[in-house]
Amino acid sequence: MIFNQWYVIAESKEIGAKKPIKITRLNQVLTLWRDLDGKVCCISDRCCHRGVSLSCGCLVDGQVQCPFHGFLFNGEGAVTLIPANGKNAKVPDSMHVKSYSIYENHDLIWMWWGDEDHKTEKPFFFEELSDYSYGSFKDEWNVHYSRAIENQLDAVHLPFVHASTIGRGNATLVNGPVVVMEGDLMTFYVNNIVDDGKSTPLKPNEIADYQKLFHLQFHFPNVWQNFISDKFRIFVAFVPVDEENTVVYVRNYQKLVTLPVFKQLINYFGSLSNKLILNQDKRVVLTQLPKKSELKMDERLIMGDKPIVEYRKRREELKSGKID
Ligand code: FES
Ligand SMILES: [Fe+2]
Repeated sequence: MIFNQWYVIAESKEIGAKKPIKITRLNQVLTLWRDLDGKVCCISDRCCHRGVSLSCGCLVDGQVQCPFHGFLFNGEGAVTLIPANGKNAKVPDSMHVKSYSIYENHDLIWMWWGDEDHKTEKPFFFEELSDYSYGSFKDEWNVHYSRAIENQLDAVHLPFVHASTIGRGNATLVNGPVVVMEGDLMTFYVNNIVDDGKSTPLKPNEIADYQKLFHLQFHFPNVWQNFISDKFRIFVAFVPVDEENTVVYVRNYQKLVTLPVFKQLINYFGSLSNKLILNQDKRVVLTQLPKKSELKMDERLIMGDKPIVEYRKRREELKSGKID
């Protein structure tokens, strides 16, 4: 995983103040809950006393109580009470587990994965989506998150994987695509056409007025949006679980309908359609080997794969720490 980044790790609605939850993210087994102020806390799930899973415990005064011997853990991962030693006993400083910085906004939870000294104030989000309402769902994919991301950067697969849905029309010839990188934000412009047997695809630098084309955006390390239209967007967060598993959070955002019941209906049906399309992707992507992509690997790429190549290059730069 790329170090020193904010990663979306969950949705706000998954974390409550009644009991802790256990999730694995970025290879770490974590306990999350809300404290008495509603702030999301995130600490390692393994009790420093004798290794029990803290998320099996309960919440007492906004802190997690280990189910084995009742040690209390606060949001910084520090033990604040060892019941067997008595309420007056001082708790040794060594009694703590790792804690993680959390940021919550847009009904999403981000976790800082990196050095605290390098932590940026807040993560990136497609802020314009604040004006939209959304429906959402989550799914688990048995692939490294790089493969799930690359699938959403892939202009070439549309007429094959999605022949019955968004890839209808047999537009198999891939012009470009044009990729514009602005820091960690990648925008790519797609222009697939039907092959008349005489044309060759245009190179990215031969496409005039590419800004008018259908486009999508990805921002490192793990968020993406599809500009369906001014009023409709699809958002995906690709959340790394471990080296072979990913959770995707998919939202269809819209601002066409704002009346409460109609809004919920349209958001619900939007989610159903996203599920159908994503299942078409999943069926294929789960068979890719290896499960994780790299800049240098045994694959023979073509011009239409440019967004994937640019993703791999930037990912490599960020992983090597050459870029802040
Ligand atoms: S194992 Fe957690 S308090 Fe003993
Ligand atoms: Fe797809």
